[in-house]
Amino acid sequence: MAEDRGQVMTSNDSSAGAGQPIHFGKKALVTGAGRGIGLAIARTLLDEGAHVTICDLVPERVEAAVADLSRHGQVTGGVCDVSNPAQAERLVAQTNSHWGGLDLVVNNAGITRSAPFLDSTVEIWDLVLAVNLRSQFLVGQAAARLMVASGRGGVIVNIASTNGLLGEAGLASYNASKAGSLLLTKTMAIELATRKIRVNAVCPGFILTDLAFEGGEDPETIANYAQNIPMGRIGDPIEVAHAVSFLLSDKASFITGTEIVVDGGQTCKE
Ligand SMILES: NC(=O)c1ccc[n+]([C@@H]2O[C@H](COP(=O)([O-])OP(=O)(O)OC[C@H]3O[C@@H](n4cnc5c(N)ncnc54)[C@H](O)[C@@H]3O)[C@@H](O)[C@H]2O)c1
Repeated sequence: MAEDRGQVMTSNDSSAGAGQPIHFGKKALVTGAGRGIGLAIARTLLDEGAHVTICDLVPERVEAAVADLSRHGQVTGGVCDVSNPAQAERLVAQTNSHWGGLDLVVNNAGITRSAPFLDSTVEIWDLVLAVNLRSQFLVGQAAARLMVASGRGGVIVNIASTNGLLGEAGLASYNASKAGSLLLTKTMAIELATRKIRVNAVCPGFILTDLAFEGGEDPETIANYAQNIPMGRIGDPIEVAHAVSFLLSDKASFITGTEIVVDGGQTCKE
């Protein structure tokens, strides 16, 4: 086993044994998990044996999500604006002290604001960049500092988007935030590789969540949009959660600084 070389990048020393779920005993934090993709990720991690802390900006979503998730395992939740430095730091510290460690972090919280480039505003730019990108820096840095200090390392997954790979009209700030997420991911991966911390991104394509509907699309438009996806449909949050779970697991022990695209083939065609 390559462990003898001291470079195996497992998330910590308590890897799941035979017959145990892949995240058995791991301590996880998922941001923006009051609904949508984050909620599916938290549920998946719980089903796979992790203890999970979730946060969201909206108190009612936290309450409802914790009630749902508590049927799946040990979960705590709190209200947090992850774009706020003090709140992000407190979130990570409280997660760590509650579970007695922090192994897995998913930076999922995100928003969109649609506006033609010529009409967009600096307020939209600052808000979207803060929620989508600054939060990943803040939570990622606070978590990585703890992981380094513990000596156990860990794994971080940043939720980016296919909009970080290709442009889409009307979403300048969103596209820029997600492209930024991808290079933040790579830079963190390089700097943290020898500290037993892996950092990767997941790029969802069009996934059926409230966020997709808030973009103004009605069901008919969504159905039409699906015609442009080689697989002929839009995605389900659980399909993103499965990719995240894989990257967080020791099955991805030699994978860092890259992204998995979960888009039904949308970005592979002209
Ligand atoms: N749905 C898609 O098609 C799609 C595609 C690509 C990428 N993504 C990304 O996936 C992630 C999740 O998206 P979703 O579709 O589940 O969205 P969603 O709106 O359903 O869920 C996002 C959650 O994040 C929370 N949130 C917003 N701002 C926050 C903040 N400052 N602090 C803490 N929580 C905050 C929201 O309250 C919400 O509950 C986002 O980063 C999004 O950009 C989604």
